[in-house]
Amino acid sequence: MLAALCAWLEKTPLSAAIQDIGWIIPISQTVHILALAVVLSSIVFVDVRLLGLGAWRVSAPAMARRFLPPVWFAVAVMAVTGAILIIGEPRRDLLNPVFQIKMLLLVAALVVTAVIQAGIAAHPRAWGEGGPAAWPARLAAGLSLAVWLAIAVCGRFIAYFMG
Ligand code: HEM
Repeated sequence: MLAALCAWLEKTPLSAAIQDIGWIIPISQTVHILALAVVLSSIVFVDVRLLGLGAWRVSAPAMARRFLPPVWFAVAVMAVTGAILIIGEPRRDLLNPVFQIKMLLLVAALVVTAVIQAGIAAHPRAWGEGGPAAWPARLAAGLSLAVWLAIAVCGRFIAYFMG
């Protein structure tokens, strides 16, 4: 089914345009990487604070309220730029096992991030308002850090595992 989707995508005028217009792929890759910088730096701030490893002057909920909204925005930018790259070379990505793992990890990362954001909104004390975060909050932060970093590693490795 994925192979059929690739075969169809490759023949669309949009795919041809992305391949023919020389600047579209490099610009999309550049914006993808800039958005990656926003995602990872924001996530590291929030998770390191929740884990109690640094930035103690700001509470974890305050940190999350400041840095999680840009994560959602940057992920949306990555979805758009990633989609452009996929449409330009569908086989390279959609049939690639590393890309597939990256997408599964992305779902997990979005769920963990949503849990952290909702947890902080509902129970700020347990999530580090006025003291250390409780162990479930630390567990979520550790998981979040691991999953987001794994996505970045998978993204870089897509080029080395062709489908
Ligand atoms: C939101 C949905 C996303 C889609 C659809 C997507 C899609 C893609 C695609 C198609 C590529 C090009 C791979 C190739 O052909 O070599 C790529 C590269 C990459 N992506 Fe994503 N991505 C997304 C989100 C993310 C996120 C959230 C991260 C990191 C946290 C990430 C990190 C990377 C990295 C590091 C590369 C390699 C860039 C390079 O070496 O030039 N991506 N992504």
